[in-house]
Amino acid sequence: MRIGFFGDVVGRSGREGIARHLPGLKRRLALDFTVINAENAAGGFGISESTARELFDSGADCLTLGNHSWDQREALTYIVREPRLIRSLNYPRLSQAPGRGAGLYETDAGQRVLVVSLLGQRNMEPLLDDPFSAVDQELEACPLGHACDAVIVDMHADVTSEKMAMGHFCDGRASLVVGSHSHVPTADAQILNGGTAYQTDAGACADYDSVIGNDKEEPLRRFTTRIPSARHKPAEGPATVCGVYVETDPLTGLARRVEPIRIGGRLSQSIPQVEAALART
Ligand SMILES: [Fe+2]
Ligand SMILES: [Fe+2]
Repeated sequence: MRIGFFGDVVGRSGREGIARHLPGLKRRLALDFTVINAENAAGGFGISESTARELFDSGADCLTLGNHSWDQREALTYIVREPRLIRSLNYPRLSQAPGRGAGLYETDAGQRVLVVSLLGQRNMEPLLDDPFSAVDQELEACPLGHACDAVIVDMHADVTSEKMAMGHFCDGRASLVVGSHSHVPTADAQILNGGTAYQTDAGACADYDSVIGNDKEEPLRRFTTRIPSARHKPAEGPATVCGVYVETDPLTGLARRVEPIRIGGRLSQSIPQVEAALART
């Protein structure tokens, strides 16, 4: 099975990058299932129904969120109606977060894919439940290679050690553990010892002539003067669409190959080569 995961889509630039590049990538890489982190899709802050629709129309099968999940109030009701949109799993029970933190989906070919969205605790909102205990329950309930053909874990976290620890914690039980939230792709794509594909951060789908996807002016002003003068707004140049490509074993659901994807915009390009016979024309 072939999986594509794409990191945080930032604003219009990110959405247009996805619209421009994802359909071609899906054909070229013969992707069976595509996940996109969409926590910054609506003007950099959260997700709205219309921005989610754009991403689904471009070919996303599932959208994940993060610490910006509820920046747009309509997401609180939209997520209840849209099972392809998931928020972080580890909100405390008493928060009564709407929607779900994990989803089991079926591809056109009948493969079952579990997607789990987690929020890290380090440098993040302090009141979240432990993401390790939360994911453990999901993985126990839906064992890879038995109850599903692939497991994708989006570890939305700030601290690289917490993401890497999550990779090892899920090793052998997930097809892919990939970080989001940093908005910068890391160069550590690998298959862990137990067979789980891992990359510390997928990177953002955003204009990289920016400060993590935002127009440079306001962040620079804040760093230099310490005085906030305006809202952060997404940079508007062409996006580099950043993500991870994974091939899994059909029997075990574990990874056989993992490669970074970077296409469009200004970052150095990285497009996995797949056998021509597989690519759908
Ligand atoms: Fe983000
Ligand atoms: Fe985030």
